[in-house]
Formats: sequence, structure tokens, C-alpha cells
Amino acid sequence: MEFSIKNGNPGKQRSACVVVGVFETRVLTEAAKTLDKNANGYISDILNDGDMEGKAGSTLLLHKVPNTVCKRVLLVGLGKKSKLHDREYRNAVQAAFNALHKTGALDAVLFLIEDPVIKREISWKISHTVIMAMKSVYHPDQLKSKHEGSKQHLRKVTLSTTSRVDSDIGEKALQWGLATAHGMSLTKDLGNLPPNVCTPSYLAEVAIKMAKTYKLKATVLEQKDMERLGMGSLLSVAQGSSQPAKLITLEYWGRKKKEKPVVLVGKGVTFDTGGISLKPAAEMDEMKYDMCGAASVLGTIAAIAQMRLSINVVGIIPATENMPGGNATKPGDIVTSMSGQTIEILNTDAEGRLILCDALTYAERYEPEVVIDIATLTGACVIALGHVASGLLSNNEELAMELLNASEQAADRAWHLPLWDDYQEQLKSNFADMANIGGRAAGTITAACFLSRFTKKYRWAHIDIAGTAWESGKKKGATGRPVPLLTQFLTTRAARKIP
Ligand code: BES
Ligand code: MN
Ligand code: ZN
Repeated sequence: MEFSIKNGNPGKQRSACVVVGVFETRVLTEAAKTLDKNANGYISDILNDGDMEGKAGSTLLLHKVPNTVCKRVLLVGLGKKSKLHDREYRNAVQAAFNALHKTGALDAVLFLIEDPVIKREISWKISHTVIMAMKSVYHPDQLKSKHEGSKQHLRKVTLSTTSRVDSDIGEKALQWGLATAHGMSLTKDLGNLPPNVCTPSYLAEVAIKMAKTYKLKATVLEQKDMERLGMGSLLSVAQGSSQPAKLITLEYWGRKKKEKPVVLVGKGVTFDTGGISLKPAAEMDEMKYDMCGAASVLGTIAAIAQMRLSINVVGIIPATENMPGGNATKPGDIVTSMSGQTIEILNTDAEGRLILCDALTYAERYEPEVVIDIATLTGACVIALGHVASGLLSNNEELAMELLNASEQAADRAWHLPLWDDYQEQLKSNFADMANIGGRAAGTITAACFLSRFTKKYRWAHIDIAGTAWESGKKKGATGRPVPLLTQFLTTRAARKIP
């Protein structure tokens, strides 16, 4: 799909479809008003007949509207004007694209970016229209013999306004949306791939390919390298599997090398059976998504590399399967992490923290500005926040606020949970420095408490995406989150820094 930004009169668009918004109840937007005037009240008549109220997400397709030069007019409900927030706008855009794809339109001119979204500027509306448009053409059909995309007609999308938009601002917003959507789509593709394809070795190959495409530096550490580094915790997860574990790093240097990088650490468990603490059979297939943290690191780096963002970013991905093989870790085993701290593994299904802790220790060698890990870490996070918000925990208040702001701006929700020392007690072990589980209570927090013992040397935040990385049920598929959050965080940082 191709995008451009223009200004013009909605009645004078030689297009297969002109898209305009309608507020609740039957209140026309500027663009809809213009069309309606041209057509001597044709549109308001239809609304007054009761065909559309303007409820958020509703649509009405009209053909051959008088005094227009377009084939169709698509009316899109925006809901109440006083309640047009991010969510309603994005839903309306999504509804518009879903309706457009049902027509045979090859191109469309959308007059939605000038509609007043509360607290949002035009650049936000441009970026997020592009993201929603790209979402509407994403299908998890990499391995189907026929691709859904082949049925798609819509090729050209013009984002239009009745008044002029600053072209620099518009172009930048467009590029941001495209880059973020591209990163999300990579993250989704990796998440949706089956676990027999998307193995630790496969993730390593993807990083190497990305390095070639964007001129980045990729390094893949093998098991023997990790043994030498003393990553006993990470390797204990891999030992039940016949797929070799990898520690993948991908470096993007958008600024002078002496400037400290932001390090992103992504959990890359390409399949989580639970190990000897085996998971129940129901929905176990979804544990192919246990590498979505890793996928979001790759997706975010793809996005910032495509934009050539002025910032240094290092991605670190501990990648392994968690399998119950004959050599698998047993509950009760004690391992020594790279940090030297010993861990009693009471539940082999709490494996994410075991691979992350060694990757977080490894991150020290980059002398990071900040470290953010992203992980499908705890089922408890799904219980706490559902599929709406990612969990955010941090050892630094300022960093947490910065991430929350990015999350808000990116419409990629996150919620701050406490990381008080009071919770640390739950990780006590009689036999090792710590246990790898802290009981049922506050499972997301105790998981972060575990990680906090390996992140004392730098500012660190942890994003638990167990509830947000993918959708279950009929629409099963990866979401590409939290790529928007992370890309926004890095974009804001890149703009803030003085060269
Ligand atoms: N990958 C899972 C977490 C998970 C579960 C994410 C369900 C999304 C949906 C993680 O490795 C895990 O199994 N965590 C355990 C930890 C427990 C044993 C302390 C969990 O949450 O049950
Ligand atoms: Mn697990
Ligand atoms: Zn897991």
C-alpha cells in the first residue's frame, strides 16, 4: 500500500472512494459538510432517514453522490465529538479500512486526519492512520498456500485535509507510521511462525539478515561461548532441548560510538512446554509466542534502522526452547548464573527469568544508558491487566515515567506496578541465593524482583507482555506490541539528545 498526504476539496477527488467522518448524533465533520453542501443535503438526508447515527466504528457506503467525481463515499462514525480519543479514532480508522477492503476500490482519499482527536496533533493522526491501515492488510498467512493479500484491491491511500498541512511534519509522521508498522509486521511474522520453523537458530538468522539489510552488527554466541561466560542459568533452560540455544546481539549505532546505548533485552523462548514442570495441553500451542519479547526487539530495531534514528541501540536476545528432554533441568536443581548468584529452580516453567538474568548480566559490557527487557514472562500479568496493558516495572522512577509517556503517545498501553523490597522475601531459598519462583501471590512483581537482582548496576525497566503480545481465539495472532511503545520511547530520546 502506498501513502501520500494532500489537501483538497472532498468533492473534487477523482478517486474510487472518498472517506469522511460523521460524529454522533448525525453531526457532519468539515469534509462531510463540504460534500453535503455540494450535493444539496444528500448526505444529511440519508442520515436523517436513520441510516447512520455516527456511532464510533460504524460505516455507511454511498455510491454516486451528486456533484462528486469519486465513485463512492464512505461515511465513518467517529462517536461523540467530545469523546474522540486515541482509541475511538484508531477504531474508526480500522473500521474504515475494513469497509474499504470489502469494496473493489483500488485507491481511497481519507479526510480523517483533520478531525479533532482530543490532545492529538495532526502528525499523531497521520502516523496512527498509517499504522491502522497497515494492520488491516496484515494476515498471518506466511505458510498458507494462498495468500489473503492477493485478494486485496486497495493500493493507494491519500491522507487528505481541506486545509494545508506542513509538508515536513506530514512526511515525518508518515515515515514514522510506516517504519513502526514495518517493525510491527516483522514482530508479528516472527511470533506467528510455528515453533518448528522459528527456532533459536532461525531468530539468529533473522538478526544476521537484518544486519545485512540495515548495515547493523549481529553477533551470535553459541552454547560453548555461553559456557565460557558462565551462563549456567540460561543454559539450564536449554539442556532439555535438542535445538541449540543462541545468544543473539544486534547493534544499531546511529550516533557516535562513545555515546552509551539503550539496551533492549528480549525473551526468546521459541517454545515453552514448561519443561519437567510441564504445562497442561490446552492452548499449549500458544507458547510459540513465548519469543515475542525477542521479536519486538528485532521489530523495534528494524523500525529505527529504517528511520535512521539518531540513537545507539543494542538488542540482546537469549533464545532457547524450554523442553522436558531426558537431560532437562529438574525441580530442585541449583544453577550458578553469570553474575555468580546461585538459583534453586523450583519450577522449570519459570524459565523466562532464568534466561533473562544471564542476558541482563551480559548487558553490563555495553555500559548501557538504560536497559529495558521485554518478556512474555508471567501468566499472572494476564490475570492482573488482561489483554489491554503491558506490565511495567522499573528500578528507576524517571525511566518508568518516560516509558509510560511513550506508551501513552503510542497508544500502546502499559501500567506501572510496584517493585518494593517487601516482595523480595518471596524468593527466599534454603539452599541457594534465591529461588526462581515466589509463590502465587503477585507473580508478575516477584518475577521482576528476581530480575532486579541482576540489574543493580544500571537503570532498568521490565515490560511484561504476556497479555499483550498476541490475541487468542478466533483472531489468534501476534499483535506487534510493544513495538510502538519502544519505537516512540527511542524516537523521543533521539530528539531530546543534543549532538
Ligand atoms: N511463558 C510463560 C508465561 C505465560 C503464560 C505467558 C501464559 C502468557 C500466557 C512463563 O514462562 C511461565 O510459564 N510462567 C509461569 C511462572 C510460574 C511458574 C511462577 C506462569 O506464569 O505460570
Ligand atoms: Mn514457562
Ligand atoms: Zn515462558
